[in-house]
Amino acid sequence: MRHLIDPLDFTREETDRLLGLAETIMDKPSEYAHRCAGKILATLFFEPSTRTRLSFESAMLRLGGQVLGFSSAQSSSAAKGESVADTIRMISGYADIAAMRHFKEGAPFVAARYSRIPVVNAGDGGHQHPTQTLTDLFTIRRCRGKVGDLTIGLCGDLKFGRTVHSLIKSLVRYEGIRFVLISPEELRTPGYILKEVLGPSGHPFTEVRRMEEVMPELDVLYMTRVQRERFFNEEDYVRLKDSYILTPEKLRMGKADLAVLHPLPRVNEIDQQVDQDPRALYFQQARGGVFVRMALILSLLGLEPDILEKEGEPC
Ligand code: CP
Repeated sequence: MRHLIDPLDFTREETDRLLGLAETIMDKPSEYAHRCAGKILATLFFEPSTRTRLSFESAMLRLGGQVLGFSSAQSSSAAKGESVADTIRMISGYADIAAMRHFKEGAPFVAARYSRIPVVNAGDGGHQHPTQTLTDLFTIRRCRGKVGDLTIGLCGDLKFGRTVHSLIKSLVRYEGIRFVLISPEELRTPGYILKEVLGPSGHPFTEVRRMEEVMPELDVLYMTRVQRERFFNEEDYVRLKDSYILTPEKLRMGKADLAVLHPLPRVNEIDQQVDQDPRALYFQQARGGVFVRMALILSLLGLEPDILEKEGEPC
């Protein structure tokens, strides 16, 4: 049995095969409409979500399966003190696969250790968000034809933004990527990502404060929201929340084929006028998440046996 807790739980080859399957599903969805008949997905969301939970549910329903779950810790027995380990032991009897979002870093990893069904990390605190990364890679691959030979700017809250951490971990496995890390001093990329992931990868990277000075170099601009829920102090959030606002004027400095991505939700960091620009791909990106999660569900349930190897890294 395989889980997806960290983006590196899948090899690059497995990741590429899964993205290929997502493209096939996107092209011929009717061929997959009944593949999960009789299967149940549990969505265990201890933290708010719109895209991840609903795209997982949409994915399972589009595969002909069924879904159950909860959308907040308060509406589950976690509110009475039940542990993640006990929760997943129960869910293993109720469902065939589970997607878990939790405010505590490492909670889905703990769940996987006690689970009898595949567990997917749907975001754990400020740590990782591997299915968003699959969605991001899928979007880059579709707009560029491949992942590689790109200058990628990651902008905003690089400290708490789990999507950024997972994306960097995955992107270093592709050739020719140059990283431009755009953030205020207080929201810089965590040291462990710089020292243990980017440094050893040999990929060039720079840290800058101003978006404008690097905009003309970028092939991909990955905007992120400042993560209010991870701040200890509201004053710091208010001071930093509008550090970057992408406007049509700033976008004019970008390449004609720049791809603007954002994991969403957006707060104020992309002006709504940017939505009209053909380079703004974030809503397409969110839609692609459904096909990626369809491919993931099929792969983890063993219904597409050629995607994942039998043995993954031990969890
Ligand atoms: N991108 C993302 O994780 O969105 P949600 O928080 O709405 O799931």
